[in-house]
Amino acid sequence: MTRLSAITPSGHVQLGNYLGAIRQWALHGGPGDLYFVSDLHAMTTPHNPSRLRSLAREQLAIVIAAGVPPESVFVQSDLVRELGALTWLLECTCSYDEASRMTQFKEKSDGRAGVRLSLLTYPALMAADILSQGAAEVPVGADQAQHVELARTLARRFNGVYGEIFVVPDAVLPPSGARIRDLCDPTRKMAKSTQNSAGVVFVLDPPDLVRRKIKRAVTDNMSTVEYRPAERTGVANLLEILAGCEGSEPEHAGESMRSYAELKDAVAEAVIETLRPIRERAEQLLSDVDELRLVREGGAERARQRCAYRLDAALRLAGAS
Ligand code: TYM
Repeated sequence: MTRLSAITPSGHVQLGNYLGAIRQWALHGGPGDLYFVSDLHAMTTPHNPSRLRSLAREQLAIVIAAGVPPESVFVQSDLVRELGALTWLLECTCSYDEASRMTQFKEKSDGRAGVRLSLLTYPALMAADILSQGAAEVPVGADQAQHVELARTLARRFNGVYGEIFVVPDAVLPPSGARIRDLCDPTRKMAKSTQNSAGVVFVLDPPDLVRRKIKRAVTDNMSTVEYRPAERTGVANLLEILAGCEGSEPEHAGESMRSYAELKDAVAEAVIETLRPIRERAEQLLSDVDELRLVREGGAERARQRCAYRLDAALRLAGAS
C-alpha cells in the first residue's frame, strides 16, 4: 500500500505543517511511501524563482530531518513532464464547476486581479501527483481534504469512462493537530505565507523566538484551562499544539494547569523540544550541498520509474497514443 503526501514551498515550514502532516509521514510511513516537495504548486501565485528554489531545498531538508526516510522523498518538478501529461488528462476529466468550487481557490482568488489560471486548475495537478503513483492513502491536514476528495472523484470517473487504471485514494487526517490556528488570530489557520509572522511558529525558528511568539498568543478573558474549541479557540489551539507535541489528547492535555501563563510555558517548552532535533538536523543537511543533491536525484529516478506504467496506460486508455 502506498501513502503519498507533499508540502508546497510557498513559505517556510510552520508548526501546522509539521503537526498536521510531516510528523504523520515520519511516524506512520512504510517502505513504499512517497513524500515530496510540491514546488510546481508554489507557482500558482506570484513567486520569485530563486526564493522558490531555496525554499524547496529547505523543505526537503526539513522533511528528512523530521524522520522521513530519504529513499521516500523527491521534488515534484523533477517529474514535471510526467505530471504535466497526466494533469492534462485529469483537467479533461474535471469540470470547471468542480474546480471553481474548491474552498482554497475561492479564498485565494477572492477580490484579486490577475489570478493565475493554474490556481483554478491546481487540484488537477494534485490529483495527478496522487494518481500517478497509485497512492491508496493521502495523509493531510484538514485544509487539503477537499482536494483529495476531488482526486477520488476524478479517479473513479476516469476508471469508469476509460478503464480501470487508478487507485481511488483516501485522505487520512491526524488524530490531533489537523488544523493548527494562527497564534495572533485563532480564527485563521496557521499558514506559511501569512504576512504577519508573529502568529506563526516556523520549524527553523530559534527557541527564544518560539517562546516569545507563544507567550503573546491570543487567549480570552476567562482563566480556566479547558478545551472548548467552538467558544475558546485561542486556548483550544494551544491545547491542540501541546497534545500534538506530546502525542496526547487536547481534551486532557491541560488538565493539571491552573493558569494561561502555565499553559503557555508548557506549550513553549513542548514545541521547542519537539522542533529542536529537526532544526539541528535540517541545518546540518542544508550545509551539505552534495547530500541533498544525491537524495533528490535518487528520489526523482525512483518516483519516475514508479509512475511510468500508469501514465502510459492512462494516455493509451484516453486515446492519446
Ligand atoms: P501545504 O504545503 O499547504 O501543506 C502541507 C501539509 O500541511 C498541512 N497543513 C496543516 N495542518 C494542520 N494545521 C495547519 N495550520 C496546516 N497548514 C497546512 C496541509 O494540510 C498539508 O497536509 N497542495 C498541498 C501539497 C500537495 C499534496 C499533493 C498533498 C501537493 N500535491 C498530493 C497531498 C497529495 C499543499 O499545498 O499543502
